[in-house]
Amino acid sequence: MTLAKDLIDLLPLGEQAVHELLDDAAIQKARLRTSGPDQEFAGRTAALYFEKPSLRTRVTFEVGMNQKGGYALQLDAGSIGIGKRESLADVARNLERWLDVLVCRTFSHTLVTELARLANIPVVNALTDVSHPCQALAFGLTAREHKGDLKGQTLVFVGDGNNVARSLAELAALAGMHFVLACPQGFELPADFCATVSPEFARRNTRFETIHDPLRAVKGADFLYGDVWVSMGQEAQKDAKSSHFLPFQINDDLLSAAGEQALVTHCLPAHRGEEITDSVMDGKKTVCFDEAENRLHAQKAVLRRLFKATGRI
Ligand code: CP
Ligand code: NVA
Repeated sequence: MTLAKDLIDLLPLGEQAVHELLDDAAIQKARLRTSGPDQEFAGRTAALYFEKPSLRTRVTFEVGMNQKGGYALQLDAGSIGIGKRESLADVARNLERWLDVLVCRTFSHTLVTELARLANIPVVNALTDVSHPCQALAFGLTAREHKGDLKGQTLVFVGDGNNVARSLAELAALAGMHFVLACPQGFELPADFCATVSPEFARRNTRFETIHDPLRAVKGADFLYGDVWVSMGQEAQKDAKSSHFLPFQINDDLLSAAGEQALVTHCLPAHRGEEITDSVMDGKKTVCFDEAENRLHAQKAVLRRLFKATGRI
């Protein structure tokens, strides 16, 4: 079987690939702890093209390349000026001559798929307005560590049916998890995406639901997942959105409605006092910093897979 050159979204990868990535992420994590950094990526260069702010994604890709003996450089999206200073195709034709992988955080999802199509090097989606697959992989690793096999676990995403929710739904579908989106009316995942992903849940006899009553939605959850109410680039919608999302705050009441078994995570950054309270964030049930740590290991697994797919390691 030929491996895909890029990581744009999880669903097209399929179930086996997701399991392989999670297995390898766990191996990378254990190996770092027992043997320290290695040289598997010696001579390999990653460039990080970020149009939006980042802490976790940027640092973990850079540290991940470093710990594997490779090199990572930051590109200044403004000064490259894709489509302004130079066409996207010409940027791609340049970057492929120097790099081994291009990691992209963009507003436009199409920009990433086009770079992947045009550049003869692996391209990784490091978050777009549509999806955030690396985050979902880090969640998968974290959920396995805390609760074992993902199959049959229930993930309740509490918030906006946006990029993080979408990638988590893809992970859940492929891993045999139940997925519930708890959101206000009007903030569901896009209908075309639901139509695409639903059969994957049906095939595995798992639930894929959108529920507008937060207390009902979270009942029985293994994981409550939080994200900001207002994503990067949507700041102008803050006032209009916040009132809709208030009943969906992850607070002590919601956590207790979920049940004793529930753990809480969040992609971060968290807006404490908005989508999640301090008491939950700093409480015993929260595993979001484990998930942040796991970004590093999940992304190493992604890079290893893409480097193998393209004969780089
Ligand atoms: N969760 C996440 O992607 O964090 P950053 O935006 O800081 O990279
Ligand atoms: N939904 C958030 C995720 C941040 C990691 C955003 O797009 O800003």
